Amino acid sequence: MSELHPTSSAMTWLSRLEELDPAMIEPLNIRDEKLRNNFIEITAGWALRPPFYAVHEGVAQVICGRYRDVMEVYRDRERFSVEIPPGPGFEAYDKFAGVEQLAQLDGARHDRLRKLANPPFGPASLGKLKERAVAVIDRLIGVIEAHGDIFDAQADFASLLVPEILLKVICGMNDAQAECFLDMSAAIPAASRIPPGGSYPEDYLDALARTRAAIDELIAERRAHPGGDVISAWVQLAEDGDALNAKELHDLIFTITAAALQSTASGICSVLWILGRNPAQFALVKSEPALIPGAVVECLRVHGPGLLSFPRFATLDTEIGGTPVPKGMVVLVSQQAACLDPVQFANPLCVDVRRDVRSAPVFGAGPHICLGSRLAKMIIELSLEQLIAHFPDIDLAEARFQPAYRGQTQETQIACLPMRTGSSHASTVKASP
Ligand code: HEM
Repeated sequence: MSELHPTSSAMTWLSRLEELDPAMIEPLNIRDEKLRNNFIEITAGWALRPPFYAVHEGVAQVICGRYRDVMEVYRDRERFSVEIPPGPGFEAYDKFAGVEQLAQLDGARHDRLRKLANPPFGPASLGKLKERAVAVIDRLIGVIEAHGDIFDAQADFASLLVPEILLKVICGMNDAQAECFLDMSAAIPAASRIPPGGSYPEDYLDALARTRAAIDELIAERRAHPGGDVISAWVQLAEDGDALNAKELHDLIFTITAAALQSTASGICSVLWILGRNPAQFALVKSEPALIPGAVVECLRVHGPGLLSFPRFATLDTEIGGTPVPKGMVVLVSQQAACLDPVQFANPLCVDVRRDVRSAPVFGAGPHICLGSRLAKMIIELSLEQLIAHFPDIDLAEARFQPAYRGQTQETQIACLPMRTGSSHASTVKASP
């Protein structure tokens, strides 16, 4: 108990820690690389047990892994709010230094902003985008094909594709503006490692200032010359009906750009790696492309792009799955663990591209369910579809490849994924009638 942070006055439960059952406190550091390197097995274990406590850097958290506990927290925002309580001790949870982003707002304000932000991510808008997304994918595949048989699916494909579609096609940014958002995205991990009472690193603050300036520039440009992109649509909302105020407009642009870049790129590599590790399933998907949408969610169920959702904070003394949760305690839900709960998904570590994955909380659940899930799925599905169409023999370069991870410590972003195109065969296939 002495390791608890003394300045955390806002954490009202601190003085009552002795009420917690010591047998349920685990010596677990959620930022430990060992956790990330073995995350599938470890989170599969969380899915089997009631919520438990972990104390790290003076902050005690309750970790939920069973499907039913995770769903309970996701759906009950009266008891479990995403809004960060004021006061010291919560710095690492405010990764965007005061930017009010949807995932950390609750109540009527969240619901209003979410409704306003939603249209560009609905089926009608995405349908219009499909052709342009395929063009970007095909261009990258052309470059890969020209460079020979082996390519890195992360550096040569996913990391180039997602910014191109999200920042340039959807938001209409120029190269310099897009670069600011990429720098910001790369700087975020440093902010998630701030100890309680600590300050933001200089590099992070610099990237943040440049991103904010790029957003101001984009807003001014779209006011002067509206286009058909997402930012123009939101600027119009702010102008016409005054539906968005200046800060809300700014923060919304920040949220879907700087904050959403990594997950989709990461998801592409997760899907390719999981299929590569399961050759019979990969063969099924290659022979039956209609399986692609289900296969994408099934692969993300086993290997999602992150271990944990945004933290929740208990708004009252309560319990989850029988585990007491004092008011103010940080509640961490692992959608990754819930996806591996055998009560919900029989034989959960087995990859089955024909599985019914409709209930898999890969994109969360409840009021904060992912705003970009349709877009993310569309990008990953089209990527897989086009890669298979161009390279029917595509596979991992090494069958037993074990990935290393990068990004925030709770993210499972495959750093590099060497793949083989089998392109000599691809040319033969293309040449035949
Ligand atoms: C494979 C890709 C992705 C995965 C697995 C993913 C996963 C998630 C999850 C699990 C949540 C819920 C977080 C929580 O409840 O704490 C979430 C929320 C969110 N995601 Fe995604 N995401 C992906 C891609 C995207 C993209 C491409 C965008 C934007 C264009 C996006 C924007 C958002 C936003 C704005 C929220 C917060 C929604 C709210 O609070 O109302 N995501 N995402």
